[in-house]
Amino acid sequence: LDNDVARTPPMGWNSWNTFGCNINETLIQQMADAMVSSGMRELGYQYVVVDDCWMNPNRDASGNLQGDPARFPSGMKALGDHLHNRGLKFGIYQAPLDRTCAQYFGSYPGATGAQGHEAQDARQFAAWGVDFLKYDWCSPSGSINDQVTTFARMRDALAATGRPIVYSINPNSIHAKTGPQRDWGDVANMWRTTEDITNAWDTGQTNGYPMGVKNIVDVTVPLAGYARPGGFNDPDMMEVGRGGMTDTEMRSHFALWAIMASPLIAGNDLRSMSTATQAILKNPRLIAINQDTLGLQATQISYDGTRRVLAKRLANGDVAVALLNVGGSTTTISTTAAAIGKSGNSFTVQDAWTGATTTSTGSISAGVPAHGTAVYRVSGGTSTPPATTTLVSAASGRC
Ligand code: GLA
Repeated sequence: LDNDVARTPPMGWNSWNTFGCNINETLIQQMADAMVSSGMRELGYQYVVVDDCWMNPNRDASGNLQGDPARFPSGMKALGDHLHNRGLKFGIYQAPLDRTCAQYFGSYPGATGAQGHEAQDARQFAAWGVDFLKYDWCSPSGSINDQVTTFARMRDALAATGRPIVYSINPNSIHAKTGPQRDWGDVANMWRTTEDITNAWDTGQTNGYPMGVKNIVDVTVPLAGYARPGGFNDPDMMEVGRGGMTDTEMRSHFALWAIMASPLIAGNDLRSMSTATQAILKNPRLIAINQDTLGLQATQISYDGTRRVLAKRLANGDVAVALLNVGGSTTTISTTAAAIGKSGNSFTVQDAWTGATTTSTGSISAGVPAHGTAVYRVSGGTSTPPATTTLVSAASGRC
């Protein structure tokens, strides 16, 4: 979407993965403060997104949304000010139909969705200083055409406010996720590609609830052609630091989100991060690969069912390459400079995890542990587009 925001994948934190409906203004303020004190803000994390359940279950007499008075007693404008005063940005959640997802499932009272209130809600968000809207389709009904019309209505309502607001949509909730994938770049800045992520590597399914990291990667890799500045595939908030995966799996999770040009939205408790979690979320070389100004998502170079090679062209001519082992034991994964679109005789290969560099005449190879991902930044030689790109078929609904 050409609205001057999200020219690179948005980075930040979202309340849902760890806290669900159990949120309040003190918690959000503490998370913002932790984003600053941990050094994450300096590395590019900026959006603090208050997910579902922040609302008063009743609109006011004029039909305006209100924060829940017990848990957000200072009001939503004051929360936005708290974030802005710390150099952060304010994200909030709403749903396009009559209910938010928690209201739909009955875990939160009310029916305060935006349906019939789109312009009013957009103006309210702008007045509160909102910089990011997560807009979540939570209904098993509706066609893809209904979704396009409905999501475009809020796109236009946000534009009419004049405030730059990242527009993050979820067209995949509930049963609609089995429907066609679509290039939503005409509608939104980021769009969910799968059902909700869970705190696990592999749930063994690619279109049901919930999804593991490996399963989300399986669905999102083929959508590489949709990503560009202003519009990114969204494989969901991260589960790094939440304890359900090994350190190796969490490193893979972050590396894959980074090279897929995915939004880097942390979902862990930032107040109590282990050293290992911080080393993952704050790796400057992986963040630089993710935030590269070309805004390209890595394309698949090869995959034999165990060894998956992805490559992402970078603005300065370097190419980032990920070697993912989805198998159960350590294996050697190899590709070449030529395969990832580089020609020449001598290359510098930097390990994105450690920063260590080696030189190579063209081979890029590593012993990768089970569920691990090696990532290298390859420079030198001359760059041409990768020989193998993953094309998205016309039948998938690209417009
Ligand atoms: C849906 C979304 C989640 C979260 C919840 C909130 O499940 O996919 O990311 O926003 O709703 O209820």
